[in-house]
Amino acid sequence: MALPAGTVTFWMTDIERSTRLLQDLGARYAEVLAEHHAIIRAALRGAGGTEVDTEGDAFFCVFRTARAAVDAATQAQRDLTGHAWPGEVPVRVRMGLHTGEGLLGCTGYVGLDVHRTARVAAAAHGGQVVVTATTRALMEDAWPPGVGYVFLGSHRLKDLDSPELLYQLVIEGLPSRFPPLRSLEAPTYDLPSTQSSFLGRSREVADLARLVEEHRLVTLTGPGGVGKTRLAVRTGAELSARFPGGVAFVPLAAVRDAELVGDEVARALALPVGAYSGESGTRRLAEQLRGRRMLLILDNVEQLLPGAAEIGRLVDALDEVTVLTTSRAPLHLREEQEFPVGPQDVPADPGEPSPVLLEHAAVQQFLDRARAARPDFELRPEDLPHVARIVCAVGGIPLAVELVAARVRSLSLGKIADRVGNQLGLLRGGPRDLPDRQRTLRDTLQWSYDLLDAAPRALLAVLAAFPGGAALEALESVADGLLPCDDVLDALDPLVEHGLLMPSVDDTDRYRTLQVVREFAAEMLARSGHSDEVWRRHALWLRDVVAEAAPLLLTEQQAEGLRRLREEYDNLRAVLDRAVVADPESAAELAVPLWRYWQMRGHLAEGADLLDRLLQGLPADGDPARRAAVLSARGGIAYWQLDSAAMTAAYEEAAELYERIGDREQLAEALYNRVFPLMLARDFTAGERMAKRSEELFTGLGDAHGAARAMFGRALATIHLGRHEDADDLLRRAAATFREREDSYHLGWSLRMRGRNLLLLGRLAEARELLDEAFGHFARDDVSAVLLFMSDYAALAGLERDAERQVRIVGAMQRMQRVTGTDLVDYSMNEPLGLEESLTALGDRAELIRAEGAAMDDDEAVRYALDL
Ligand SMILES: Nc1ncnc2c1ncn2[C@@H]1O[C@H](COP(=O)(O)OP(=O)(O)O)[C@@H](O)[C@H]1O
Ligand SMILES: [Mg+2]
Repeated sequence: MALPAGTVTFWMTDIERSTRLLQDLGARYAEVLAEHHAIIRAALRGAGGTEVDTEGDAFFCVFRTARAAVDAATQAQRDLTGHAWPGEVPVRVRMGLHTGEGLLGCTGYVGLDVHRTARVAAAAHGGQVVVTATTRALMEDAWPPGVGYVFLGSHRLKDLDSPELLYQLVIEGLPSRFPPLRSLEAPTYDLPSTQSSFLGRSREVADLARLVEEHRLVTLTGPGGVGKTRLAVRTGAELSARFPGGVAFVPLAAVRDAELVGDEVARALALPVGAYSGESGTRRLAEQLRGRRMLLILDNVEQLLPGAAEIGRLVDALDEVTVLTTSRAPLHLREEQEFPVGPQDVPADPGEPSPVLLEHAAVQQFLDRARAARPDFELRPEDLPHVARIVCAVGGIPLAVELVAARVRSLSLGKIADRVGNQLGLLRGGPRDLPDRQRTLRDTLQWSYDLLDAAPRALLAVLAAFPGGAALEALESVADGLLPCDDVLDALDPLVEHGLLMPSVDDTDRYRTLQVVREFAAEMLARSGHSDEVWRRHALWLRDVVAEAAPLLLTEQQAEGLRRLREEYDNLRAVLDRAVVADPESAAELAVPLWRYWQMRGHLAEGADLLDRLLQGLPADGDPARRAAVLSARGGIAYWQLDSAAMTAAYEEAAELYERIGDREQLAEALYNRVFPLMLARDFTAGERMAKRSEELFTGLGDAHGAARAMFGRALATIHLGRHEDADDLLRRAAATFREREDSYHLGWSLRMRGRNLLLLGRLAEARELLDEAFGHFARDDVSAVLLFMSDYAALAGLERDAERQVRIVGAMQRMQRVTGTDLVDYSMNEPLGLEESLTALGDRAELIRAEGAAMDDDEAVRYALDL
């Protein structure tokens, strides 16, 4: 039968624990399978779908519409559940639905969407139908009777880059509560990959593995380039079976403040957005990771040594987590086990017989890198002693070996051996101490650098300003005119060839340097006299990146915006860190649009700190509009921190400045912002006045959308002032505007606020309807929104006199609040109304029920609160 192309909906199913069934049923399994097939095929035919492929107990089918696929899945689950199975075994089938492009290859469908459907189905439990956001969106108003859905959250599925928003069908009469999706059971994190093979070190890996299994904090120490990071990653990968909670790599080379390590860990683990820095942040992190036996590799912490105690506190708090750090020097923490990493094994004497020479890891590494540099490289037996001399000269330090090996492109082995020997003057034998090794690497870097032409030398210096790696276009823009060549690529290639620069593994035209190489480059940059110019240009480049990416954050392309900014984040940090002192005005241009990123990624403390430093640094006689913009950003951060005093101060000063300059648009915005601190301060009359002024200004400017937001602010005040009918009217009008403008974010909030208002009026049924609709406008990982809704539903339960239900929801909500640091729930407008009465009614049982609520995981809690 011809398969449909274009937009299609895929349906995949398979029987849960089929192997087990087969064992239990023996020959009768064939009967079960036949009846299962008949049920699936009947449902498929009934809905007009096509069977693409069947293998064992797994079906792969396709439909022209999402609705038809939902019909088939629903019918199949109903029939499977109602069926009298041979041997009376329950047969539970997991199902996944996804809508995407039906790309036809020669043997059927191909492409990522097929893959995605398979992963979605695999994440489901028997009896559960999981659908992707695309399928759900296409269903819109076409849900069959008795079928609904519930949001399951954003999930990382195996092999797929970006997380998926997943939903579950809720079919009347069938079970609808399932354990957390199977996608989450064994988290896997990306460990950095390299193109070179890992050589030698088998004893180190074994010793280190043992140490890591016995101690909670192990530090690999040794000079830069000696192989600490490689060893840590390798050992982590080998130990993955020991850590069911996963092995994660947290790069810290670009982090300068030990307080931020928690944030970086959260970032590496893709935890829900929240504030994970400082003491309270550590507590949240601990709560998030509770029960997870995992290994965290904190890579490159030597620059954080002054804040080592902070890292110690973090390790103490995460008591089921094992931490492996790499550092040039130990952290000197109580529980720390130091594991010094030495150079690779080198020959004692270049005159050893060939087979013996070839056993040394340093020799193997040299040959491996030489072959990578020159595919036609062939080792003549008489050259082996040269290799031995070379690796001895560079002391077996892996990075130095790499740098020297890259030279086989242009020099014979004998020449390299002579030159390296002379230059380093280190052909003496015997053990070397640590400063000696550092000097060896420094000398090797210098040697390698001296052999470069002027253009790559100049480019290497520029790279010192890119701790987060550099995109090719970034280099083109920053290095423009500073290199004695026309094309950056001419300077770039030799750096890559000689091992000073690495192209990223996922061919995204990004280049990285190792920390030690960057330090050397920084010396060269300082010497070049272009340092300020290079940093200034990098700041300009990043300004454009931010100007493009930051506006995406409030649109449907949010994920793309986050990705772009995350890629450049370490560079942004470095540039901002310099500019905040050296050139606060351009730092401001970068930082202001970045505040939403800080908010969404939970870097609140870091953002607040930087903006505060900026406000101090901006010249008193500078541009007032710039200062006002920084203040508005600062106020936004303070709002998410529920830091009322900071928010008031920032928004007030911003409004004054805009008033003085006479920028009416910005003033209207600033007045709108000011409504919120007034609400928190419970000065509702002033809040209403402020919102009115903002609305009038927006209306005068012909900005209906702005006016609708101001109306929303006004409604808040009006509710507090007890004029509920007025508030309802304002919110209706605001919602209409947002709907018309397709502003789902503000539409969601205004519907929710109407629902809240009706709760206060006791119109419970209408309130529930509004809240249900409103909740559909928020992503499940928008933690603050989820929590406010939980509180609304708790209020609803309280007002319906269902004390148990209310207290259970509140228990769950309080746990989530603690974990994420979303404190806005405590604001009076968001309270779970009627809680006191419920607690009194339950008496002694209240605590137990609250604890039951706290024991639910996030998905379960949301489903419970929404009564699904
Ligand atoms: N065992 C090894 N096998 C192959 N290459 C290695 C090995 N150890 C280190 N290297 C290479 O040497 C360079 C420096 O290693 P790295 O782990 O980054 O050092 P460190 O973290 O101590 O600064 C890297 O390019 C790395 O790939
Ligand atoms: Mg390292």
